[in-house]
Amino acid sequence: MIIAIDGPAASGKGTLAKRLAAHYGFHCLDTGLLYRAVALSLLEAGQAPSERDRAEAAARTLDLSRFPESALKAPKVSEAASIVSAIPEVRTALLAYQKDFVARLPGAVLDGRDIGTVIAPQAEVKIFVTANPEVRARRRFLEMQQSGGKLSEAEVLADIRRRDERDSSRGVAPLKIAPDAHLLDTTAMDADAVLRAAIAIVENAK
Ligand code: DC
Repeated sequence: MIIAIDGPAASGKGTLAKRLAAHYGFHCLDTGLLYRAVALSLLEAGQAPSERDRAEAAARTLDLSRFPESALKAPKVSEAASIVSAIPEVRTALLAYQKDFVARLPGAVLDGRDIGTVIAPQAEVKIFVTANPEVRARRRFLEMQQSGGKLSEAEVLADIRRRDERDSSRGVAPLKIAPDAHLLDTTAMDADAVLRAAIAIVENAK
């Protein structure tokens, strides 16, 4: 079984994907980490994330295990990842790895922006997770504070809005809800309620 989870920045899709995968004993891939790793390789080499050739080369030679997840989640990497992910050659270079992952048995949960539309349009279950930007910013701000983050809540909100705009308006594989996706608005839900709602969607699709 393939479960495709898409949604905007800080919508809780990563947490949901991990918990759903644990619940069903499925493999889990946070596809944002791929774009983040490309972005971090460029930043480390002193290159701009908008440099197409360099970004494509970084995507083709990507070694995810080089980077700890904490480094990939840094705010400057989020912004750079959003920029590299709008480069069509970068997306093409990362396609095969994601398509192979989808086929893993007994099942796979992937989260990102284009899972239900491009990576796995054949997924049995598609969930589009969203929440209003203020709530997403608040959750991300509290999370960042725990790990010593220095951004204010207003700055986190501005970052989220900027990324939403770029990720939704780019020409290739923009963030959009697949016609057959279930919309899960988590604005007024906690993580346990989100998991319960998602399990109900999966059980219904079996
Ligand atoms: O999900 P995330 O915030 O970790 O993703 C980081 C950036 O990567 C995001 O701004 C857009 C991009 N991304 C994408 O374009 N397609 C995906 N499937 C996953 C992430």
